[in-house]
Amino acid sequence: MTGNPVVDWASDYDVFDPGYITNPFPVWDELRSSCPVAHTERLGGSWLPTTYEDVCAIARDPRRFSSIEITVVPPDLDDEFANVKAAPIQSDPPEHTWSRRLLLPAFAPRAVTRYEQSTQELCNSLIDGFIDRSSVDAAVEYAQQIPVRVIAAMLGIAESMSDTFTDWVRGVLEFAAIDPELAKRSRVEALTFLHSEIIDRKAHPGDDLISYLLAQEVDGEPVPDLHVLGTCGLLLVAGADTTWSSIGSALWHLASHDADRKRLVAEPELVPNAIEEFLRAYSPVTMARIVAEDTDVGSATMRAGDRVLMAFPAANRDPNAFEDADQVIIDRERNRHVAFGAGIHRCVGSNLARMEMRIAIETWLARIPEFHLEDPSAVTWAGGQVRGPRHLPVTFP
Ligand code: HEM
Repeated sequence: MTGNPVVDWASDYDVFDPGYITNPFPVWDELRSSCPVAHTERLGGSWLPTTYEDVCAIARDPRRFSSIEITVVPPDLDDEFANVKAAPIQSDPPEHTWSRRLLLPAFAPRAVTRYEQSTQELCNSLIDGFIDRSSVDAAVEYAQQIPVRVIAAMLGIAESMSDTFTDWVRGVLEFAAIDPELAKRSRVEALTFLHSEIIDRKAHPGDDLISYLLAQEVDGEPVPDLHVLGTCGLLLVAGADTTWSSIGSALWHLASHDADRKRLVAEPELVPNAIEEFLRAYSPVTMARIVAEDTDVGSATMRAGDRVLMAFPAANRDPNAFEDADQVIIDRERNRHVAFGAGIHRCVGSNLARMEMRIAIETWLARIPEFHLEDPSAVTWAGGQVRGPRHLPVTFP
């Protein structure tokens, strides 16, 4: 929570309100029908569009809505890495165009299959670690462990750094609103570490993403080290928390909805479809934009410099865009969700994220077909920039 309890969500929303983090859906439903673009003065002030139409229109208009700042909590950058930008996500064209192009080959569908087998082995070895216990925190001991190891492997970084990476990512994203000092320290430590890895790869190039980025050229010049640093920092943050949250939300759903769990066990070929529905219904990511010029969105008059929170999760629950939007329908046919964003910044890592989610859920269901929430009230959620379960105790026979 970032101040007094909320009385009026339309004019004073708080994305860190504990009730909203646990169950934001009724707030979005109410806002969509009463005040589809909400406003708050909290955390420096921001706008919150909640309809599919508005969120997509803003995402597809990078000229009026800049990505120069994309964090839900305004950043406090006065450290030695203040000029390191997380491109492409934190950039506008023309920088965005070439910095995104650099990354695309590494995350193409074929490139991602290279990590499929190791992801499956990882999931199995995690399950080996707790299957004899009949209970586990599926968020901490499973979901959280997977994406950070996959991205570390891609960057050529020792697996032993995974827990430290997780702490840094949580410090930067999850705790930014309540502990700005921790957020700053986490960012500096992560970038200092990645910088030392870049220096190492320049001397000893390998078969990893850092070496690949260092070997690329833009307009005949090597990509500057600071650019590679910002991009690697982004991949760590964007690749870890998002996917772990999505795996956790999917497991939360299956632990609390027996019919869907049983159906996926009986029809594993439905898993990819179910994953799209989990991504829609429990979208983790909210990004920000900065208004580049005075502009109106519906009845909201936005001024240059204002912050807009891109509520992709709220857009994905809009009944004007999805039939039975509040229902989780694991064999939903029409599902043009925007969990991965829309427009020029649409997620570069979506193939990787989908692969990780599919393998994580398939492997879990094959080995633990029956499981339930140990105590629904013991489940905790993180919110703000990335929403997902942080503690998810489940039991199984
Ligand atoms: C379920 C998991 C994920 C979700 C829901 C997700 C969501 C998103 C969203 C909504 C955006 C758009 C941001 C904007 O409009 O400002 C985005 C961009 C991005 N994501 Fe993901 N993401 C996920 C996983 C990943 C992974 C695994 C990686 C890579 C390791 C990744 C890398 C990126 C990058 C590099 C961008 C910036 C693209 C650009 O600015 O052109 N994401 N993601």
